Amino acid sequence: MEKLTIALTKGRILKDTLPLFAEAGIEPVEDISKSRKLIFDTTLPHVRFVVIRGTDVPTYVQLGAADIGVAGKDMLLEHGAAGMYEPLDLGIARCRLMTAVMRDRELPAGRIKVATKFVNVARQYFAAQGTQVDLIKLYGAMELAPMMDLADVIVDIVDTGNTLRANGMEPADTIAEISSRLVVNTSAMKRKHESVTDVVERLRRAVQARAAND
Ligand code: PRP
Repeated sequence: MEKLTIALTKGRILKDTLPLFAEAGIEPVEDISKSRKLIFDTTLPHVRFVVIRGTDVPTYVQLGAADIGVAGKDMLLEHGAAGMYEPLDLGIARCRLMTAVMRDRELPAGRIKVATKFVNVARQYFAAQGTQVDLIKLYGAMELAPMMDLADVIVDIVDTGNTLRANGMEPADTIAEISSRLVVNTSAMKRKHESVTDVVERLRRAVQARAAND
């Protein structure tokens, strides 16, 4: 079958991704967590993994450096989906993309300062609400911004809500339900149809088997 490169998101999502791929019969031939390597052969001889940051997965797949990717819906919404199909919700790494505010603090009457790493999503969301905002791009620790009077609102991933609570904040509105998605480069879908379809269907069966066991 045609050779395939699958880009996986490293970190917390990887810990949820590898068991699902194993259930689909695709496993790295060495322990990714014990290696500094970035490329890994798998038990399917024509398939290899590259393990990269979540923000970079859509770029690799869109530009065809990887044929397939596993990326959070948050990353896909922020990056845009041009050049990619999204055939499968993997049902892992579930969370919400939300606005959040300081407990017991009123929002200002005029323009609102919004700190986030999801500036494109936030821009679209507040424009649709008709709310005037100044966007402040941050790369981490969004919860700090309101405490330091850098922002009035943050847009961030919420899972348990513990991070917000620990920093005097509370969730406000849900912008999107998030989970990890399988994405496929549109031209790889045509050029490598047989091997791409094989991987998509293996994962589809693994996701369905999990749903049946719930
Ligand atoms: C995310 C997010 C919050 C936290 C939310 O950060 O930015 O800080 O998780 O989880 P909780 O609701 O269960 O507290 P993550 O740990 O993924 O690291 P990041 O800042 O690098 O995205």
